[in-house]
Amino acid sequence: MASPVVFSKLTKTYAGSHAVKELSADIAPGQITGFLGPNGAGKSTTLRCLLGLARPSSGSAHIFGSSYRELGQPLQRVGVVLDTKGFQPQLSGGKNLGLMAAGMGVSSRRVTEMMNLVELGDVGSKPVKSYSLGMRQRLSLASALLGDPELLVLDEPANGLDPLGIAWLRQFLRNLQAEGRTVLVSSHQLAEMQNTIDDVMIIHRGGLVAHDSLEAVMAGDDSLEAAFLRLTQKDPA
Ligand SMILES: Nc1ncnc2c1ncn2[C@@H]1O[C@H](COP(=O)(O)OP(=O)(O)O)[C@@H](O)[C@H]1O
Ligand SMILES: [Mg+2]
Repeated sequence: MASPVVFSKLTKTYAGSHAVKELSADIAPGQITGFLGPNGAGKSTTLRCLLGLARPSSGSAHIFGSSYRELGQPLQRVGVVLDTKGFQPQLSGGKNLGLMAAGMGVSSRRVTEMMNLVELGDVGSKPVKSYSLGMRQRLSLASALLGDPELLVLDEPANGLDPLGIAWLRQFLRNLQAEGRTVLVSSHQLAEMQNTIDDVMIIHRGGLVAHDSLEAVMAGDDSLEAAFLRLTQKDPA
């Protein structure tokens, strides 16, 4: 199966400084890939280039063999959660999703199903402004799944979640994978996704420093943090 996401020497500069530098990688289909690195490493910039929200300075980021903008029916093929995703705060969660679904030609039945899937069924008629951060994250996940996409691109979906929320998210991502979907999920908290991901891409200062199975990247280290330090800190000797 071809890689659903291919980065080829992706480079993005802002005012002459590199946010992403010559990043090349193929995402394995049907796997959960963790895109990990500290704040400012270049994760969001990479994903924004992939989703047509930022223009690469050079190189490319392709989804299903083309740029996002050239992709037919993008909402049915790739589900997206970005920090910046806005809901209308005064409208209910169900209404927000209903408006998106109507714009995509998706049934209201699917809206109800997705609200239940993310365990917001009971609060679907309450305004989004009354939702906790965790509830908004789950509403974002529900919106990403409206079009039943085969690929999910999630930028820091665990941000602001408590340990229970993170445990919930882990199981949720595993369920999506079991349905045959590919998941690309970014996080700056290296430990939090450790038990969830199959493959790891580690980005540091805009450059990819590792991309392999979790086991290969850890290479005997106890934690992804230890692996990150080994991969990014030059031995002074
Ligand atoms: N729109 C922008 N204008 C200028 N600099 C930016 C912009 N977006 C990101 N950057 C810079 O690019 C670098 C990578 O940022 P980002 O991709 O947001 O990292 P991450 O998502 O890993 O925290 C940072 O130094 C950030 O300040
Ligand atoms: Mg980011």
